[in-house]
Amino acid sequence: MPDGRTFPTIAPLVARALELHSSAKILQYGRSRGFPPLCEAAAPWLRSLTVDVESPQDILITSGSQSALSAVGRVFLEQPDEIVALESPTYLGALDAFGERHPQYVIVESDADGMDPESLDRVLSQYPVKFVYTVSDFHNPAGTTIPLNRRIAIADVLMRHRVLMVEDSPYRQLRYEGEHVRTIQSLAPNNVIFMTTLSKLLAPGLRTGLTVAPRQVLERMINVNGWRTLCGSTFDQAIAAVYIGEGHLDAHVPEIVNLYKPRRDAMVAALEAYFPEGWSWVTPPGG
Ligand SMILES: Cc1ncc(COP(=O)(O)O)c(C=O)c1O
Repeated sequence: MPDGRTFPTIAPLVARALELHSSAKILQYGRSRGFPPLCEAAAPWLRSLTVDVESPQDILITSGSQSALSAVGRVFLEQPDEIVALESPTYLGALDAFGERHPQYVIVESDADGMDPESLDRVLSQYPVKFVYTVSDFHNPAGTTIPLNRRIAIADVLMRHRVLMVEDSPYRQLRYEGEHVRTIQSLAPNNVIFMTTLSKLLAPGLRTGLTVAPRQVLERMINVNGWRTLCGSTFDQAIAAVYIGEGHLDAHVPEIVNLYKPRRDAMVAALEAYFPEGWSWVTPPGG
């Protein structure tokens, strides 16, 4: 859970959303693909994260990325026992979301640099995989970040096998040191469903996840989103549109990093001081 101290003062954001859109609009049902002003504001922001977004039409807003994960499962896992390839360990919420469709999992090997492209190649040669799932930046729970050379190799493997990957990146902007590495999605936009969320950057209570996917995939995910919820919360999305569109996010990220980085440092110092000989760990450069 994000620290509640990182949540912004909400009243001025609500007031601004009302000033821009009226309560008749932001308390109304919205579109299954998301509140248009949020899609408009999110497109340049996602581009700044190196996500390949041609237009706001390429973006789907869901109730957190959890419901986008669940929509991916609903779209691609038609029969029980169909196969999803992922790392072990992986994000438990993704297992819950896909688990609704009763898939089988095959493990792609990973190390301190995250998913191993050679292992991915072997897995995709061996199994009829419906999609691959990874957390590319500051992996939850492994702490790993996939370096550029591996991302290039992974993109190549996906394109060669004509397989889709879900690149789940909720923590991407929370980098404490080093350079951002471009998204796998930007290297293979026709083979990657990229998702991120405002849960760690704004507040998880404003359920706002963002997905960018190839058009045909996105349209099917929009249908699922509509069947399940009609639409996400227009109110939450109007606040998020103000937050991203009026530059509050960029100003806020350094404050979040300044709160979390000393905690990461304290944890690593404690591991060094108290863990037995022979243990090793990944020091996450963000998250
Ligand atoms: C890797 C990963 N994906 C997705 C989520 C879900 O986020 P949301 O609050 O947007 O549903 C989380 C939340 O912790 C996460 O760690």
